[in-house]
Amino acid sequence: MERQRMRPLRLVLVPCPFQGHINPMLQLGTILHSKGFSITVAHTQFNSPNPSAHPDFSFLPLPDTLPDHNSSTGDLVAFVWELNVNYKARFHECLAQVMEQQGLEDRIACVIYDEVMCFSEAVAMELKLPSVVLRTASAATFLARTSILQLKAEGYIPFPESMSQDLIPELYPLRFKDLPFSVFITLEDLVQQLSTFTNIRTSSAIIWNTIDSLEKSTLAKIQQQCRIPIFPIGPLHEIASASSSSLLEEDSSCLAWLDKQSYNSVIYVSFGSVAFMDMKELAEIAWGLANSQQPFLWVVRPGSIRGSELIEVLPKGFKETIGERGYIVKWAPQKEVLAHDAVGGFFSHCGWNSTLESICGGIPMICRPCFSDQRVNARYISQVWTVGLELGNELQRGEIERAIRRLMVEKEGKEMSERAKILKEKVELSIGEGGSSKNSLNELIEIIMSF
Ligand code: UDX
Repeated sequence: MERQRMRPLRLVLVPCPFQGHINPMLQLGTILHSKGFSITVAHTQFNSPNPSAHPDFSFLPLPDTLPDHNSSTGDLVAFVWELNVNYKARFHECLAQVMEQQGLEDRIACVIYDEVMCFSEAVAMELKLPSVVLRTASAATFLARTSILQLKAEGYIPFPESMSQDLIPELYPLRFKDLPFSVFITLEDLVQQLSTFTNIRTSSAIIWNTIDSLEKSTLAKIQQQCRIPIFPIGPLHEIASASSSSLLEEDSSCLAWLDKQSYNSVIYVSFGSVAFMDMKELAEIAWGLANSQQPFLWVVRPGSIRGSELIEVLPKGFKETIGERGYIVKWAPQKEVLAHDAVGGFFSHCGWNSTLESICGGIPMICRPCFSDQRVNARYISQVWTVGLELGNELQRGEIERAIRRLMVEKEGKEMSERAKILKEKVELSIGEGGSSKNSLNELIEIIMSF
């Protein structure tokens, strides 16, 4: 700490410009800033973070070079790939300039980059800076991703429909159908991208937004295979609880509505920042919620229904049927919602941030994974931590109504809720004094100080 007082070290963070990635990176920045580091966030113009929400950070906007991207149609994987091609030279130029201007008092200790912003590692190496990877998905997802590479090389994938329910050896409880495939790109392109994103090249350490007590054996397996140290220091949102990096405006009016609902009665429904659905699926969810007779808070994100904007897409007669029993917003303050006493269940796409936030709220889940790591998370939620139930592939109102009643009313749901509370306590222990995440964070800081 003596050294830190004399020479505050600067860390350059490179988030991937999507909500589910920006959140954990900026939370990490908040945590490391509280430990005495100066923080610079290098970011794209697209989905750029709001500097006024982070007055303690410096921001380094990278000149925009991207052709019109297609993120609204959900072609995110191709977009991220394009980022890697287009931003390397810009980042090199901008970072070199910062280094020229820096004094001894403000030395850059390292670059911390989102696992998919691989160009950052190459630039750090060229500028002789150490680099550290932040993995924003679960450890189980990482193993599943490396397995895709192996199974493809061994000829097991693509697999026939008849194998989709088969368990994958060494990857319990994942079945072939749970592998984190992309809905946006071909298997060949996915394999190429995964070999790039899972390769740490010259990086010195890996930070993981997960918790040892959730993924102990998976983390141990990864550490055995990995020649650099890994630091599971999550859940980042819980340690950096005050920071918000929402790209959309949060509609806090739903909190006042929640205040009027009884304890544990509300099912919160949200499918994150990138998943989308069609009108038929929207109608099935709407009538499933209406028919369940349970109070609900539903996020219908603009652009999430192919080709349309909010409220007018809801089925005819739906609003009249639900009356005051349901509340619909475009974007919610999700962490506050999941911490609210009235919320007793979360109907979710199972993005990793949502999964961690639900676990930290002690809230059991109805899992409706859409793509990629969401399938892995859903399987862990329902089969390993047993704090949720998973819906079938096709959204059907009857199945949704039944799932809500199982979770919110029946004995099975009460038991899941109890297990969710126990899981929450375990996670709380990990960030407290002597807990695994706290210890890992201290070790991480030591390594960064030694650079
Ligand atoms: C994407 C992928 O879908 C996901 O599988 C991957 O793990 C991360 O990137 P996203 O769809 O954004 O994530 O889901 P998630 O990881 O759950 O992150 C969404 C974030 O937005 C959460 O931190 C959540 O709190 C926040 N959110 C969501 C809000 O603040 N308000 C909302 O109304 C909905």
